[in-house]
Amino acid sequence: MDRFPDSFLWGAACSSYQVEGDNVNSDWWQWEKQAVKENSGRACRHYELYEQDFDLAKSLHHNAHRLSIEWARIEPEEGNFSQRELSHYVNVILALRRRGIEPLVTLHHFTNPAWFSRQGGWARKGAVPLFLRYCGRVTRELAPHVRHWFTINEPNVYLTHAFVIGVWPPQEKSLRKAVAVENNMVAAHRKAYWLMRGIYKDLKLPAPAIGIAQNMMAFVACTPRVKDRLAAWLRDRWYNLGFLERIRGHMDFIGVNYYSRQLVDLKGWGLSNLAGDVCGKNHFPAKKNSLGWDIYPEGLFSVLMRLKKYRLPVIIAENGMCTADDELRWEYIRQHLQVVRRAMEQGVPVEGYLYWSLLDNFEWDKGFTPRFGLIDVDYTTFQRTVRESARKYGRVCETGVLE
Ligand code: FCB
Repeated sequence: MDRFPDSFLWGAACSSYQVEGDNVNSDWWQWEKQAVKENSGRACRHYELYEQDFDLAKSLHHNAHRLSIEWARIEPEEGNFSQRELSHYVNVILALRRRGIEPLVTLHHFTNPAWFSRQGGWARKGAVPLFLRYCGRVTRELAPHVRHWFTINEPNVYLTHAFVIGVWPPQEKSLRKAVAVENNMVAAHRKAYWLMRGIYKDLKLPAPAIGIAQNMMAFVACTPRVKDRLAAWLRDRWYNLGFLERIRGHMDFIGVNYYSRQLVDLKGWGLSNLAGDVCGKNHFPAKKNSLGWDIYPEGLFSVLMRLKKYRLPVIIAENGMCTADDELRWEYIRQHLQVVRRAMEQGVPVEGYLYWSLLDNFEWDKGFTPRFGLIDVDYTTFQRTVRESARKYGRVCETGVLE
């Protein structure tokens, strides 16, 4: 039996674009239309149905919820801020607070306003001040109601998908641009950190907790060969810790998004081999989610241990699986929570766990097929159905005890 502290944050995460629907001014919306992909359309209609969704979260004993703000709603045209949309998010956050659910707010979760992307997006020189202006506006509005902020979700996933492998908008394959995006996101986070703290100070509010959500993977060498071990080490250094190293001193906690491992099996010594070769031989077979990602709870332990040196609180900001087998989902949650508890015993100060995701939702270029939700969504009727795994997880949220 594992017991978690009374103050532990328990809940689930969503991002605006994936659940709200009709984000017509976002770059993804425009891209979907051309890309012959499943479109996000009305998504889960969470923009209208959030009260109902939060009632369900409450009934499952969640005391925390991670959501994101859609920049393109707040600033649909450059410099034109929508008071109506700002008030919408205040209402969403107050709806959580009324239910005793702590809101954790992300400012950037992959999507951008279409106007921002048309100007060159994150690869362009002037990106940072534009992001800061948006951050400032949102922070001033929401500060009285929010204590936890994530500036940027998974910069490493964003820049690899959008600028290296080119499967997300703007579908570039340019290392030069990827480097520019990383530099801009580092600068954006560091500056936003001080800007946001300054706003809280001006408003005479206690300092908030500001961090990022970092995607971390376990990189496992398939063989004891030097090249496999070296590549696994390098990937861990860059992918897991690179961004965190660059924002050291500018964060109050670390958000960890952990899903899976990557098996490293190099075919050669080239740069692209070192950076990208993965196992094609199915060394160390494991159960998989419906997207083919290996289930590997042990990896969460190893990445958490890597964070000890930062001496900062850690929040698991995403962890979850897509599957048609709900028993396997519960098994996934249980095994990962056991590992979280073990890492805490080893001195990693984990303060919360947010399952990805509260609802089934729009999984980016994969569309609506992957089902990550604690709650099933029927995309024709928008009916919600609580899954058994959600109830089991809900018991842990209620008691703080994992049997
Ligand atoms: C993460 C993203 C999130 C969701 C999950 C499955 O990388 O942050 O939006 O797509 O993966």
